[in-house]
Amino acid sequence: MTTYVTPTAEIATVRTSAIKLHGEDGFAGMRKAGRLAAEILDAVVPLVQPGAVTSDIDDFIRNMMLEAGAVPATLGYHGYQYSCCISLNNVICHGMPGDKALREGDILNIDVTPLVDGWHGDTSRMYLVGDVPIKARRLVDVTYECLMLGIEQARPGNTLGDVGHAIQTHAEKHRYGVVRDFCGHGLGRVFHDSPEVIHVGRPGTGPELRPGMIFTIEPMINAGKPGVRMLDDGWTAVTRDRTLSAQFEHSIGITETGCEIFTASPKGLHRPPY
Ligand code: MF3
Ligand code: CO
Ligand code: CO
Repeated sequence: MTTYVTPTAEIATVRTSAIKLHGEDGFAGMRKAGRLAAEILDAVVPLVQPGAVTSDIDDFIRNMMLEAGAVPATLGYHGYQYSCCISLNNVICHGMPGDKALREGDILNIDVTPLVDGWHGDTSRMYLVGDVPIKARRLVDVTYECLMLGIEQARPGNTLGDVGHAIQTHAEKHRYGVVRDFCGHGLGRVFHDSPEVIHVGRPGTGPELRPGMIFTIEPMINAGKPGVRMLDDGWTAVTRDRTLSAQFEHSIGITETGCEIFTASPKGLHRPPY
């Protein structure tokens, strides 16, 4: 059984098993945090070039957050030491910035979460480095479509199973694998809150969506099988079969009639080519 709760001052900042139903203050907070997150993903577009070093992109993102009066929510999160995640090629998620240079033909996900006035704006997009083979571009396109098809199902009366089903159906139609080991999540004053947003599912199953719910949808789609392998660094998740992986993420809030996307690109840079 799913339970829902209206966040009070006491529970707003703690993870709860009940799903929080936020009010107008939550939506206003998420709008501001989501906008900064999306502006950052817009601003890094010209930095993604052959030869660019991913730790320089991380520095840029941290500085842009600090200049905007925000804090990178990932910095120090369970010991994570960076202001974003940069996941290249066969890396599924939580890739760590480092001294590695980007190369022509790479695809990468950049995932940012600025904390603005106590609210988390969590979003990621794929980027292409120079000329990218058609196979990789197709994976990126289908992954974006998966996210948007999931978001289309996000409205009162539907369930999280409807969201997962839409994503899974589209990915598997293209013979891609949907990662099961990581999921979307409720968020707000808490970075990772209930519910878990699973990117596969059956229609009509799982928690019912209600106005006030705020969560991410962030499908990770592998060109091959869904299997994950963790690297020894404890963070980096790669595809077990070494195929490419792609991901897009938005933070959304359920409204009376559908949903609001808090992290839409102000510049219209929704998907590559940018
Ligand atoms: N932004 C990621 C997400 O979508 C979480 C990153 S946590 C980190 O949920 F510690 F790896 F940065
Ligand atoms: Co997220
Ligand atoms: Co994220």
